[in-house]
Amino acid sequence: RGRLLSFHRMPESLDDRASYLYEEDGGLLIEDGVIAAVGDYASVRAEAPEGTAEIDHRPHLILPGFIDTHIHFPQMQVIGSYAANLLEWLNTYTFPEECRFVESAHAGRIATHLFDELLRHGTTTAAAYCSVHKTSADAFFAESLKRGTCMIGGKVMMDRNAPQGLLDTPETGYDETRAVIDEWHGRGRNHVAITPRFAITSTPRQMEAAAALAREFPDLHIQTHLSENDEEIRYTGELYPEASDYTDIYARYGLLRPKALLGHCIHLSEREADVLSDTGAVAVHCPTSNLFLGSGLMPLKKLIGREKPVTVSVATDIGGGSSYSMLRTMDEAYKVQQLLGERLNPLESFWLLTRGNAEAVALADRIGSLDPGTDADLVVLDASATPAMALKMEVVGSLADELFLLQTLGDDRAVAETYVAGRPAKSSIATIAS
Ligand code: GUN
Ligand code: FE
Repeated sequence: RGRLLSFHRMPESLDDRASYLYEEDGGLLIEDGVIAAVGDYASVRAEAPEGTAEIDHRPHLILPGFIDTHIHFPQMQVIGSYAANLLEWLNTYTFPEECRFVESAHAGRIATHLFDELLRHGTTTAAAYCSVHKTSADAFFAESLKRGTCMIGGKVMMDRNAPQGLLDTPETGYDETRAVIDEWHGRGRNHVAITPRFAITSTPRQMEAAAALAREFPDLHIQTHLSENDEEIRYTGELYPEASDYTDIYARYGLLRPKALLGHCIHLSEREADVLSDTGAVAVHCPTSNLFLGSGLMPLKKLIGREKPVTVSVATDIGGGSSYSMLRTMDEAYKVQQLLGERLNPLESFWLLTRGNAEAVALADRIGSLDPGTDADLVVLDASATPAMALKMEVVGSLADELFLLQTLGDDRAVAETYVAGRPAKSSIATIAS
């Protein structure tokens, strides 16, 4: 029981009441981890089998769990590294740290922490890059299976321009990705993604291997990075001189399609944006990372509003990103649009965090809404979680203003509870991890 909010589609404006369901005194009936009924409390209660236990979350908001569409599992100890730009950050801090994930004990320990942090912040689904080592993908998916979460992840493929301990080959990148697919895809709620890190760290031969995987597994997610940093773009052009631009490299290897999640997409030309639109590939906005690494201002609203619209999503990009919180992430996304002269309204923001991101990863039939039949992954939000928030709440008069307050001042403290498949997953953390 609580105040329910779930989006049907992208809100066209702040007045677009038809784009979402809001129940002031709402009820959710959960059976076997799935939402069985949704509506006003009295009618859902009447429908519930006798003896159904009840949890009262009033006056908090109950939303579908947040979805983070781009995160790096082996970068939890990279967050807050003092680097001037992307390539310096990768070479100085990130690559050395990722080398440690060859050890399964280390990968297992960090996986426990990753899931604790995600769930503490109300994130119930994430699309994660593991390290190049199969051990890291094993640790990630094993932890997900244990927690019952819906996760997307991939063993990173990278065969050049990184330390020796972080390189595979075209052959081992292919074989080990296949092994991860065989072992983990479809097990529990796990989804394996084909994950060539980016054009700089894959030779053309390895791109061929990624292309082969993409052909053999046309339904799988693909993850890579695109158009993040000026120096990266310039170097990429040198490495693939035959491509007309950065996007064309991935297009040539058949890596652009729906469920291809392209991290950053900050500096795309109109031609490149057209290609993303035509192929259905997704531009993943990582605002805290783009600001932290000084990569640039991603034109999110412009990409959505084009004549040929680009599918977009939002993400933390931990550890280039600086917060696990999708609320903090949307606050930064809002500010980036402000600097570009665009408005991102709070309904759009919360649509993105839930249904928008679910559609971007093509899992809206299972997650991202409170629709009956979907999995009961939920976040319970308290807009009065801190003294400053409570004070502001005294004068907040609308749902949109409350969401905007949550986005502007909220973080993990505003997450009163997280549910994974109907089970409390935040309040139970202390007993899972020591
Ligand atoms: N490009 C290639 N690898 C990475 C990474 O780990 N983080 C970010 N932000 N960009 C990348
Ligand atoms: Fe990234």
